[in-house]
Amino acid sequence: MSTKDITLTVNGETHSLTVEPRMLLIHAIREELDLTGSHIGCDTGNCGACTVVKDGEAIKSCLTFAVQADGSEIETVEGMEDHPDADGGLHPIQEGFEQEHGLQCGYCTPGMIMAGKAILDENPNPTEEEIREGISGNLCRCTGYQNIVKSIQYASDKLDENGEVAAADGGRAETDGGFTCGVENCCGGTGFDHTGGDNE
Ligand code: FES
Ligand code: FES
Repeated sequence: MSTKDITLTVNGETHSLTVEPRMLLIHAIREELDLTGSHIGCDTGNCGACTVVKDGEAIKSCLTFAVQADGSEIETVEGMEDHPDADGGLHPIQEGFEQEHGLQCGYCTPGMIMAGKAILDENPNPTEEEIREGISGNLCRCTGYQNIVKSIQYASDKLDENGEVAAADGGRAETDGGFTCGVENCCGGTGFDHTGGDNE
């Protein structure tokens, strides 16, 4: 079987992999990178348990070959605690799921969290309808969805609050739904390389 060399940047860390062309992105993430937070529920694109954010967009990683993601920036649930919005603790979306009881068995939760992040990255203040639309590709057999919607609303409110506090401090502030750390030539808005370097 032929193989292909690819590069994936996952949660800010760049990985070089040699994969078979038929390898799915979810398998590369779970088996090659050992990031098993993203789940496999169906392998057919129906459940959304495998949802990750690829180049800013929520995708089902069981519907994407790893080679198609070559050169991409991927975010998985493992990266959420290291995200600057987590501020050293849980990311507001994770906190929302905890506070609003957005999970029961937890199987759908990593995918729901990443779908929620993509919703809020695009629109920091979504309506309930927009949240429901945004998670419509993710199935939950336990919660009835109401508390998942509340969890994402919680995160939206918390991120708003944090942005206002940071803006008042002259530090972090959200602009156009993105993130600005306030340090010149620092993370370039991604927050992952928060070293003060040029983020090449
Ligand atoms: S495992 Fe990908 S959609 Fe179900
Ligand atoms: S919490 Fe069990 S599937 Fe969603």
